[in-house]
Amino acid sequence: MATLTEVAHALVSDRRGVLAADESISTMSSRLEGVGVAPTDENRRTYRELIVTTPGLVDSISGIILADDTLRQRLSDGRAFPDALADFGILAGIKVDTGAKPLAGAEGEKVTEGLDGLRERVAEYVSMGASFAKWRAVISIGNGLPSARAVRANVHGLARYAGLCQEGGLVPIVEPEVLMDGDHSLAQCQHVTRVVLRALFDELALMQVKLDEMVLKPNMVVAGKDCPDQPEVDDAAQTTVDTLRETVPSGVPGIAFLSGGQSPELATRHLGAMQNCGSLPWELTYSFGRALVGPALETWRGDDDRWEAAQKVLSGRAVANAAAR
Ligand code: 13P
Repeated sequence: MATLTEVAHALVSDRRGVLAADESISTMSSRLEGVGVAPTDENRRTYRELIVTTPGLVDSISGIILADDTLRQRLSDGRAFPDALADFGILAGIKVDTGAKPLAGAEGEKVTEGLDGLRERVAEYVSMGASFAKWRAVISIGNGLPSARAVRANVHGLARYAGLCQEGGLVPIVEPEVLMDGDHSLAQCQHVTRVVLRALFDELALMQVKLDEMVLKPNMVVAGKDCPDQPEVDDAAQTTVDTLRETVPSGVPGIAFLSGGQSPELATRHLGAMQNCGSLPWELTYSFGRALVGPALETWRGDDDRWEAAQKVLSGRAVANAAAR
């Protein structure tokens, strides 16, 4: 059986990246409704089957993050999702947080929950075939935000989660997402991302989380989506790499970015531009959700006749991101 260090390296190596297909039931339901598909258990299952059975995905995707409901579902041929992924040579991951909830005493800010019972859930997920996990914390910029309270509470949760995963046999993907919502500048995003990542690595050290057994999943450093002054691709890429060089220890095997609401093409261009920013101590790859699967969902729209076309679109996005690396 592979060690956690081997799994962490496998997730980020060989020009491959991680696909996030772990939307909660409510998020997945609204995405399905958005393309005219009824938000039923069966339609969620069918859509996830379309994703994981895309031919050739293994060439550009090392692991797929699933939600709890999908981990317990089966493909139409009867195989459980984690077993099918193993057959395809793709590692199965599981989102273990239970969502971002309003943080007491911090108007407009959230803290991610899910630590209660996590030790037992990790043991169950390992027994079902998961090799890695994900926990997403969200940090908002704007109007005096983020508060020190929100940063502290969120990095504490991430570090406790990461420790429990490593203890139980899962590689934690540690995701502190500084959100793109708002009109903040590139410089403001850089400042907040720096503060969050510094606080995160202090907390990970305190909780004795092993750096070589984790993957960091940060936001790229970009301007807020309503900022009138949008940076050039090369500027955002260089600023992202500079910020990571200042804050992320070289012992981390890899950094796998979220896409965060960027268009699929822009996320890929940023990823490509970062590979030209000098030599780096860690692998830089993708762990996109929307930027990988969004166009495929738009193509499918619940129509069996568009199944293959949707898989081709997904495959195209995955290949483009692997090439950008
Ligand atoms: P996006 O790439 O759509 O931001 O999703 C990545 C993810 O896993 C969010 O938790």
